Amino acid sequence: MTVCSAPGKVYLFGEHAVVYGEPAVPCAIERRATVAVEPRDDDRIRVEARDLSLNGFTVEYAGSTGERPDVDVPTPLVEAAVGYVDEAVAQARDALDAPEKGFDITVESDIPLGAGLGSSAAVVVAGIDAATRACGEPLDDRELADRAYRAEHEVQEGQASRADTFCSAMGGAVRVEGDDCDPIDTPSLPLVVGFDGGAGDTGELVAGVRELREEYGFAADTVRTIGDLVREGEALLADADPDEPASADLLAELGGLMDFNHGLLEALGVSSRSLDAMVWAARTAEAHGAKLTGAGGGGCIVALDPTEETETALKFTPGCEDAFRAELAEEGVRVEA
Ligand code: PMV
Repeated sequence: MTVCSAPGKVYLFGEHAVVYGEPAVPCAIERRATVAVEPRDDDRIRVEARDLSLNGFTVEYAGSTGERPDVDVPTPLVEAAVGYVDEAVAQARDALDAPEKGFDITVESDIPLGAGLGSSAAVVVAGIDAATRACGEPLDDRELADRAYRAEHEVQEGQASRADTFCSAMGGAVRVEGDDCDPIDTPSLPLVVGFDGGAGDTGELVAGVRELREEYGFAADTVRTIGDLVREGEALLADADPDEPASADLLAELGGLMDFNHGLLEALGVSSRSLDAMVWAARTAEAHGAKLTGAGGGGCIVALDPTEETETALKFTPGCEDAFRAELAEEGVRVEA
């Protein structure tokens, strides 16, 4: 049995625009998906998924990739999670040049599903890593990130950037622009996450932005403006000392850009009432800045606040189900056992 884990992430800046070749800066956070894999002697795939949401559930099925029998999957989100595992297996089989290799797979995760924290990327990265290692053929980090991206791209019908999967594979903060992906140094950032208990449909939300962008020049300008804003944010991070916590001035400037980024995402139609309520609760609690993270539509916001105030205020905000401090995950995918 080989067990690997990979972190989720928040977007400091740049989601959605990254799909159109603008830069984005996601940061890996210490919430992980853990995948245990045992190679089988036959061509069957058996997946057991546990605790894939904060509420927890269990689902089991047996079958080959792309040929899952009807199983009693509790929610569409769980169905989607199992789809990502299928694609991870397809990528592992391809890497191993063993198209019929069977596996027993157990997935556990403390990353809420479909909530903008990169749950699917973490499952795919940890799954491919565990499956290839279990067969004695580990992939290097870049190939692993690339295969995880291809798996996401497949499930999301061509609507995925490399940001989530690269960040989950490498850990830390990363910069993604088109096919260029690189780790970057950042000072430690006081990230606070608020979760509304819901989820957004990434495919639908990305399609909505695509339509707006095709229909209106000003929507295309909005996407480009997000790119400009990300470049400002990157420059701030590059000038800061990565060995020191972020200064109050830096937090104020980064926070201002996060607020601006949220406004532009809101304009692109990907925020929601509960996300806006949490963003405003964070700002009222004097967070340095706050924005939705990930695809939007529901799920999580991220705020910058070195004090306890934002976390406490979010916990009392109607529509916020959970709030927690998110430590930057320096390590990306790793072997647990
Ligand atoms: O909600 P998440 O964690 O799947 O993030 C989606 C981010 C998008 O930029 C909207 C899509 C992508 O693949 O980059």
